[in-house]
Amino acid sequence: MPDQQVTLNNKKYLPDQKYQNEAWCKDAEHFYQGFLTDPDGFWSRIANELEWIAPWDKVKEWNHPFARWFTNGKCNITYNCLDRHIESPRRNKVALFWHGDDGRSRSYTYWQLLREVELFANGLKNLGISKGDCVCIYMPNVPEQVIAMLACARIGAIHSVVFAGFGSDALHARITGAGAKVVITADASIRRGKTIPLKPILEEALINATTVDYIVVLRTQEPSIDLLPEFEKDFYELMESSDKSCPPEEMDSEDPLFILYTSGTTGQPKGIIHTTGGYMVGTYYSSKYILDIKDADIFWCTADPGWITGHSYIVYGPLLMGATIFITESTPDYPDAGIWWKLIEKYGISIFYTAPTAIRMFMRFGEEYPDRYDLSSLRILGSVGEPLNPEAFEWFYHTIGKGKLPIVDTWWQTETGMHMITTMIGEPMKPGFAGKPIPGVLADIVDKNGNPVPPGVSGQLIIKEPWPSMMRMVHQNEERYRLYWSGPDGSFLASDLAVRDDEGYMMILGRSDDLIIVSGHNIGTAEVESALVSHKAVAEAAVVGIPDEMKGNRILAFVLLRENYTETPKLKQDLLYHVRITLGPIAVPSEIRVVESLPKTRSGKIMRRVLRAWELGEDPGDLSTIEE
Ligand code: WTA
Repeated sequence: MPDQQVTLNNKKYLPDQKYQNEAWCKDAEHFYQGFLTDPDGFWSRIANELEWIAPWDKVKEWNHPFARWFTNGKCNITYNCLDRHIESPRRNKVALFWHGDDGRSRSYTYWQLLREVELFANGLKNLGISKGDCVCIYMPNVPEQVIAMLACARIGAIHSVVFAGFGSDALHARITGAGAKVVITADASIRRGKTIPLKPILEEALINATTVDYIVVLRTQEPSIDLLPEFEKDFYELMESSDKSCPPEEMDSEDPLFILYTSGTTGQPKGIIHTTGGYMVGTYYSSKYILDIKDADIFWCTADPGWITGHSYIVYGPLLMGATIFITESTPDYPDAGIWWKLIEKYGISIFYTAPTAIRMFMRFGEEYPDRYDLSSLRILGSVGEPLNPEAFEWFYHTIGKGKLPIVDTWWQTETGMHMITTMIGEPMKPGFAGKPIPGVLADIVDKNGNPVPPGVSGQLIIKEPWPSMMRMVHQNEERYRLYWSGPDGSFLASDLAVRDDEGYMMILGRSDDLIIVSGHNIGTAEVESALVSHKAVAEAAVVGIPDEMKGNRILAFVLLRENYTETPKLKQDLLYHVRITLGPIAVPSEIRVVESLPKTRSGKIMRRVLRAWELGEDPGDLSTIEE
């Protein structure tokens, strides 16, 4: 709840000084001052480190709530991710290492990655894709997923990557919402030694998806599945019949780069649109100054490219920096709970960027797993996606960081495109606090009247000024877009609650809207509710997030059954299965409660906060509007 007093501890840790001495940014305060003195100069210096086909006229044009960055600048992000390095000593450097679930591995140098991207980009052109068309990518964690994204960007097609853990209804909504002309998938994804077919989920999602002309299938299984020659193309055959060279499409700075759907407070997900120039500058900037990527690093971000973290910090940011990225299908506990530490040792990972849920899981497994491996290649640790609670921080810092590595706990969102709040390398770290707004970002925490709250009092987190990688639009929903920028004095509403201490460090307390962050993944209560009521036994449903030691939050569903249905374990099982198939495993409630009625306002809105308070034995607050 906002406006509440929060007790803050004042514990501090200082990482080994050498990491700051070696960092791109050695003095965060000075850097921030440089930004404040001349914001446009700050961003233009960074943008000038990248290659532009034509220079921009203005760094930014702000016509609230619409921003344009690097106006009339022309560029192609893949030129900066690939060609720029080919023309440098990075030409034969490994761009990407991949480690499969079964232990197989592959690698691509920058030169090789560019070739693959060009071939696949021409393949897409052969399917009739050109600048401005939307391509949906529904693939597992394999190099081809990255190649497909970059190939779209090469020719100016807008990619919409859908996490391979989503079910058919969720996929259908994302394909039709964006009007995708081509969908790229794989026959299967491999997880924990099991083969999970993907194409059948896509087939179901394609029913009534009239915009789709072709699907492209990466076939990994033996014997290979048959394809319908008219409509289904093989990933590599498409490349074989293509020209080898594909010059980068000239993109305007404000041309869309991608759509990424994120859960909303209605049943429909929101298509967040990012554009080319500003996103490129923002992800490059933060990969350099926050993650401190250097040429000698092997960088591992454990996210999936299906989420914004994967877009910004597996693919675009690190490749803009000319880094070696590491990706894997491997889950943290298969074949045993030491696998990730083993991979760090094996590949010499130096920057490890992961999520609190994974850290908490490792804590449960115990220190004997990381202690079996040599983790001395690590120099920076990172966290993203949900609050890094003090216990998890301590464990990460001591057990993995050996009491000397910097931890960057980065707060940001799909909508922000890049990091916004963190503790920069070398600054004192405070367990539980993400940190301060980074240079380039003006953030505040305000009460319901829009006034900044004093230290120790919670409030709404807002961003006061535009930044280069901010989303430009919610696809086909300008009203929703405007709502984001409707905070005090026209600020950007993050919909997170936060509190600050007397040194300006911010602690993120959780969402203030109807989103639940489960294991770092955004899930809309309304999405789960509409999946439940689409089952014939359910009349009404209400879903709430309940704190969970491991996952951050878990989903608890209350359902009201239709007449003629009675509560049985089998029916509850059916409902869980129904959510799994339609939305995907990440959205499955941990529990279903059958109830006789739901608390509602007189206007009929379900009062989820009341359900949640009852569940947690807390005070449900003002009940004057309750009807039932
Ligand atoms: C939460 C993920 C606390 C937050 C990059 C935010 C965090 C939502 C942190 C966005 C963090 C993300 N500490 N909470 N370091 N990072 N969040 O769009 O609630 O998938 O609003 O972007 O995740 O989730 P999204």
